Amino acid sequence: MPAKPTILVTRKLPPNVLARLARDYDARLNDDDHIFDTDELLERARGCQAIVCCSSERLTAETIAGLPAEVRAVATFSVGTEHVDLAAARARGLIVANTPDVLTDSTADIAMLLLLAAARRAYEGERMMRENAWAGWTPTQLLGVHVTGKRLGILGMGRIGQAVARRARGFAMEVHYHNRARLPEALEAGALYHEDPEDLLKVSPFLSINCPATPETHHFLDVRRIALLPDGAIVVNTARGAIVDDEALIAALESGKLAAAGLDVFEGEPNVHDGYRALPNVFILPHLGSATHETRDAMGFKCCDNLDAVFAGAAPPDRVA
Ligand code: DGY
Repeated sequence: MPAKPTILVTRKLPPNVLARLARDYDARLNDDDHIFDTDELLERARGCQAIVCCSSERLTAETIAGLPAEVRAVATFSVGTEHVDLAAARARGLIVANTPDVLTDSTADIAMLLLLAAARRAYEGERMMRENAWAGWTPTQLLGVHVTGKRLGILGMGRIGQAVARRARGFAMEVHYHNRARLPEALEAGALYHEDPEDLLKVSPFLSINCPATPETHHFLDVRRIALLPDGAIVVNTARGAIVDDEALIAALESGKLAAAGLDVFEGEPNVHDGYRALPNVFILPHLGSATHETRDAMGFKCCDNLDAVFAGAAPPDRVA
């Protein structure tokens, strides 16, 4: 029997995934789940034919150039690929695959959770209950923003954006969107396209950010663009923190320009701008978009499928480089 390929698994993945990796590979694991710095990553990659990484590891051009020659492939346990320099990977002949589709629904669910929680002041209500500060129902207590029937702007109408739109329709929301390319009519399902993302902002009392983090979307939502949103708008971000300029968002939440925000992702995670913690009108979660048992298993199995294909000499189904 040929020897199993040796792979480096940078983080502690769900048990079902680790079991499959251990069955099919000589898997080098990270039992205490610490985050490798570049030196440790390169050191541990010696003798490995592939790496299973997460968005917590940055595979810059420099890191990729430093990888041992025997590393042929990287399977990232994420749909986002902004942590991997794909151009550098292609130039080196390094195969990279990600985990699309399987986290679409769980991430869209979290977007709706954030939207509802931000609009309906869930954090303030929760805190009142836990602090035993509720004196009873009053006609004017914690009044929020009505969701049903309102207009939702979706920035980035890929798989997750479309799944958010489907859910929003269940709340009778009128969906508008911007995407790099307009969707075919069947996928639009009645959503109104704005070619210019700034036009989308102008008509979005609710805005859900679902585009990838790229140099073009870095700090897209800045002071000037927040000013384009209707007064009292609500912003939800389940994509990547770097798409938002934190200082600008915090100032708008403080001034009342924005009524509320729901955030699952942050620039520089796990650091979170202290300004958010102080604000009662922000509902914040620790990057839980794909955090269900089913989804995380499915993500891990996609990594396995992609590696299996590489070592069988076939095309990995989710190859991005
Ligand atoms: C993803 O898959 O990109 C999630 O955000 C986890 O990194």
